[in-house]
Amino acid sequence: MSDSKIVKLVDESSQRSSELPLLSGTLGPACIDIGTLYKDTGHFTYDPGYGSTASTKSAITYIDGDEGVLLYRGYPIEQLAEKSSFLEVAYLLLHGELPNQIQFSSFDHQITHHTMMHESQKNFFQGFHHDAHPMAMLAASVASLSAFYHDDLNVDDPEDRKLAAIRLIAKMPTIAAACYRYSIGWPLRYPRNNLEYVDRFLHMMFEVPSEPLTLSPVAAKALDLLFILHADHEQNASTSTVRLVGSTGANPYASIAAGITALWGPAHGGANEAVLKQLQEIGTADKVETAVNRAKDKNDSFRLMGFGHRVYKNFDPRAKIIREMCHKVLSELGVNDPLLEVAMKLEEAALKDDYFVERKLYPNVDFYSGIIYKALGIPTEMFTVMFAIARTAGWIAHWIEQHETPGARIGRPRQIYTGSDVRNYIPTDKR
Ligand code: ACO
Repeated sequence: MSDSKIVKLVDESSQRSSELPLLSGTLGPACIDIGTLYKDTGHFTYDPGYGSTASTKSAITYIDGDEGVLLYRGYPIEQLAEKSSFLEVAYLLLHGELPNQIQFSSFDHQITHHTMMHESQKNFFQGFHHDAHPMAMLAASVASLSAFYHDDLNVDDPEDRKLAAIRLIAKMPTIAAACYRYSIGWPLRYPRNNLEYVDRFLHMMFEVPSEPLTLSPVAAKALDLLFILHADHEQNASTSTVRLVGSTGANPYASIAAGITALWGPAHGGANEAVLKQLQEIGTADKVETAVNRAKDKNDSFRLMGFGHRVYKNFDPRAKIIREMCHKVLSELGVNDPLLEVAMKLEEAALKDDYFVERKLYPNVDFYSGIIYKALGIPTEMFTVMFAIARTAGWIAHWIEQHETPGARIGRPRQIYTGSDVRNYIPTDKR
């Protein structure tokens, strides 16, 4: 991190000026440090949507949106997708280094032995109507972990923070599967310690009391890959939410519950559910042109879900990997899904259309993930829950990093006030 260069900003009207250091990270554009701007000039900066604003320093994930590059702790996503596992990636995100065998065994053991929900937490599910959206149940259930682990949790203690990370990564699949099973009226399942992380989750999702479940290695591999690809994505909306809540000193369960609600929106993680619903609405490949025309029509609010990204102005590297995986999984599982044909046609039509080309709108991570989830038998309403299981690793890594950063302050943006000037109260009978 260097701060050798200075940007000088002069306010012509008041002649007040500020000398602002330029901060550089390991990779990526330098940032103008505006921390003293208000004190020096009396001005705030304005950047709604944070198009040009770095909210923090972070050593976890790097994205180059123009080149389509994604690195976790320096490792290219393509290499991790090919060679690693979700649990190893979770360790990497949390600790900064890949684990050796002993470190991995110990991490795996800890995760495996924190997977159970508190027995009374199961009762919470009874409070939901049977058709409650699983994301609503997930957010509430994760927030409720605070009720079980708040009193003995000191967010300033590194060991307590580590234990919270283990608990969250371990329990998230158990809670997620419980959300699904409650919604379809199946008895909840306990996690099986003899299974690995992803198989354990698939077992909790799909095992029925009446017959044994044969787990498919293809399904487990595909899900593990999807979890790797979704594990972190630097300062996206949900991670920034986790950090903002975390900056108040709130406990990790409350912070991550907030991240889950931020993820739910269709402009973010909710897009995977929206993509599948949209593909189903389009229905057949011959209707793709109409959909593309609607997406281009400025008088129509319709957008192509799964297209575009705030940071990637090139192919989302995760989408490239998922696209390939999608074909492989469908053929290995013997699934012939007509939606894949619609998706392919949509991708082809958009990629050669000037509207999408000029705006650099490429398929994003969620464009193909839903088709894989569907092939694995995961219901559409659970898609964003799947995303949340994986992203928990990133969220908690960021929450820990934030607490390890000296001098961190509460997040508190300012505003441009556009309301009424000061005025006097008028009694009701005079209005
Ligand atoms: N379909 C049609 N037009 C689009 C789309 C789309 N999916 N996405 C962006 N555009 C157009 C906008 O209308 C705008 O056009 P204009 O310049 O003529 O006004 C231009 O492209 C830029 O779009 P913005 O909304 O300004 O881009 P922003 O960076 O704010 O939004 C976002 C990014 C939210 C991802 C957007 O592309 C979108 O809504 N995509 C669909 C939802 C989606 O797939 N979200 C998942 C993102 S990945 C993730 O969070 C895991």
